Amino acid sequence: METANAGNAYDLAKQAAEVVVKKFGGDHDILAVLGSGWAHAASVLEATNEISVTEIPGFIKPSAIGHGGTLKSVVVGKSRVLLLTGRTHLYEGHGVNSVVHAVRTAAFAGCKTLVLTNAAGCLREDWGVGATALISDHINLTGFSPLTGADAPVPLHGRFVDLTDAYSERLRVIAKRVDPTLYEGVYMGFHGPHFETPAEIRAARVWGADLVGMSTVMETIAARHMGLEVLALSLATNLAAGISGEKLSGDEVLAIGKASASRVGGLLANILQQIDLETEKK
Ligand code: HPA
Repeated sequence: METANAGNAYDLAKQAAEVVVKKFGGDHDILAVLGSGWAHAASVLEATNEISVTEIPGFIKPSAIGHGGTLKSVVVGKSRVLLLTGRTHLYEGHGVNSVVHAVRTAAFAGCKTLVLTNAAGCLREDWGVGATALISDHINLTGFSPLTGADAPVPLHGRFVDLTDAYSERLRVIAKRVDPTLYEGVYMGFHGPHFETPAEIRAARVWGADLVGMSTVMETIAARHMGLEVLALSLATNLAAGISGEKLSGDEVLAIGKASASRVGGLLANILQQIDLETEKK
């Protein structure tokens, strides 16, 4: 199967978008990516159609537990939403272009908005496990960029993408109208798949991180490069390494995700509805 690389990434995303548009009968407005713990949103939002990602050029079935391999088409008010039930992570080893392939595909399929969700380690004891937070900014500690390599073709060329307002303030205001108790903080993106060391978490705190995780930053950079507005939400599934004195485990992440499923699934559905109400369609 062909995977996205620096040479063919945009062509492959265009081909993927053609398949998606044909299958779902038209363009979409929003791509929502369901990270660990957020999958329940897929059952709250009724899909009109769906496709296995294995049928879309360049997509890879995610190998991370708790990540599905389906792209759904959902109608929310006047918005058509692409709902991706799982993502590809850098740590799966398929390369950065595969990690952002869904975002580029969605952009070519008409999407102007990207809503990302993830599970994250939390540096804020006052928020606690189970907290949901809006990402206000990120620190990219992965060492990667989706813009590495050949420059994108015209009209997307230009590598020096401004990330001053990577996470849309407008969308954060909308999300807070839905749930004023949402926290807001800085997400530090690591490559993974190992968890961080306590020393790394102490360093992350000094650098201004509130949350740590292994996704989201590549997708956000690729989305901003293609002009999409980004909203990102984290579910704090554990206190970050060294904070509680307990060891970290992937099972704990999944268990908190499961326990929070219907709450965060409903939250995401409500946020998508509010974005639909407050975003002018072109
Ligand atoms: N670190 C990195 N990624 C994570 C964590 C964590 O503590 N929890 C859930 N995803």
